[in-house]
Amino acid sequence: MSEATTTANIEKATEKKILADAAELSRAAAEEFSRLAQQTIASRGQFTVSLAGGSTPRAAYEILAQQPKEIPWDKVHIFFGDERCVPPEHPDSNYGMARAALLSRVPIPSQNVHRMRGELDPAAAGEQYDQELRSFFRLRPGELPRFDLIMLGMGDDGHTASLFPGSDALKETLRLAVANWVEKFHQHRLTLTFPVLNNAAEVMFLVAGPAKAKVIGEIFGANPPRERYPVQRVKPKVGRTLWLLDRAAAGS
Ligand code: 6PG
Repeated sequence: MSEATTTANIEKATEKKILADAAELSRAAAEEFSRLAQQTIASRGQFTVSLAGGSTPRAAYEILAQQPKEIPWDKVHIFFGDERCVPPEHPDSNYGMARAALLSRVPIPSQNVHRMRGELDPAAAGEQYDQELRSFFRLRPGELPRFDLIMLGMGDDGHTASLFPGSDALKETLRLAVANWVEKFHQHRLTLTFPVLNNAAEVMFLVAGPAKAKVIGEIFGANPPRERYPVQRVKPKVGRTLWLLDRAAAGS
């Protein structure tokens, strides 16, 4: 398939929805999660999803927790797109946020929650998660996991997951999860890598607030900069990309 055709397919499979505000965005995200979970479990008996961290997705997780019976949670496997190198009870823990907002409030078996171990040595935690992905998805060498859904946010610097501008993990092509040194925070983060993000069946971005409008304006503008921002490199080859933006982030 030519590069032009691939690009055309990716553009065709990219959808952008502008919601009135963060509350509307959270409702739309919860609806899409629920729709996809029920559809995928009905057809394949299991739903694999990678959760986004940061603050924006929390309200969507809380909405999902309000309808615990809507989704057969025993058929759902939860992974994480990135994690801060802190223990689960630390206020910065993405797992801690998801547990409080969702996982402790729905009947999901604990063995179905695959968290990144932020409390471990970063390199060891990255390696451990890489192995966990390979064993759960029963991958042979060179194969990639295919998530049914990967939820992502975006920072005002155009980072996504913990793939920050100028960081080493941007160049990773073999490992599925790594520890990534983030200069601006002077600390490591744990993150899934682009090969995993770009092998998903669906990627759903949740982007809210005026701080994100500059980057959104550029990447959706008439002359988008060529891969200036890490978020621009998330382009599932054979999958759908859904951008949920609130008006403030869309600049409208
Ligand atoms: C994290 C995230 C990160 C996040 C963006 C946006 O651990 O911080 O996974 O990629 O999605 O930084 O964060 P907000 O939603 O808080 O704006």
